Amino acid sequence: MNKKKRRAVIAGNWKMNMTPEKTTALIGELRELVKGKRGCDIVLCVPAIDIPAAVKAAKGSRIRIGAENVHFEEKGAFTGEISAEMLTSAGVEYVIVGHSERRQYFGETDATVNKRVKAALNAGLKVILCVGEVLEQRDLGITGEVLAMQTKIALHGVPEEQLKNLIIAYEPVWAIGTGRVATPEQADEGNGVVRKTVEELYGKKAAEALTVQYGGSMNEKNAAELLGKVNVDGGLIGGASLVASKFAAIVDAAQ
Ligand code: 13P
Repeated sequence: MNKKKRRAVIAGNWKMNMTPEKTTALIGELRELVKGKRGCDIVLCVPAIDIPAAVKAAKGSRIRIGAENVHFEEKGAFTGEISAEMLTSAGVEYVIVGHSERRQYFGETDATVNKRVKAALNAGLKVILCVGEVLEQRDLGITGEVLAMQTKIALHGVPEEQLKNLIIAYEPVWAIGTGRVATPEQADEGNGVVRKTVEELYGKKAAEALTVQYGGSMNEKNAAELLGKVNVDGGLIGGASLVASKFAAIVDAAQ
């Protein structure tokens, strides 16, 4: 496995936090802190309402802006939803799909995740696809099966040439927002299962080129050790992405 073949990507997921005003302030601070940090790509996935402020504040910096979800239909009677075209026209380049909070609280299924992945990739967005097991599944010893199944369904019908716009984030649900981070070995193992599954689907070359992030209580203190693992090519960061200095420290750890 050659980690050098892959681009490290440090991405924040703000979830339901921050207002447009706070967005402008945080990105203003962050862009100074990450100046010249070329060792990884830097992405902030923000609430839809914050997108215009984020795009404006990040302009001319290395920070790219992402959304936290996207609908699979192009347009129509889907109250409250946002289409891929709306995102791209607003200056969004990345989108998170299939986050466990969407799966847990908003009825997202592997099948709808698959539809969203395809709609986003077809619109030219870069997708951060989230997969991860709940604690009960880990305790049952079926983590590998769960990750393989989620990955396979999410990528069903996705052509190989679109993989260059795909990142997969392994996020064990029990480690999200709990402060209970996976051990570097657990993160490496989970990411390895994801990569192996992509190899099964698309072959070794595609799998070796794929950026696989770890997410779940990653912070400025544990990032270096997690990112040091061969299969961990970046991080998807919740809580610690809400503080510019903490997020910048994680970017530093990825250099
Ligand atoms: P925390 O970093 O707050 O645990 O959240 C992780 C996450 O869900 C990122 O998508």
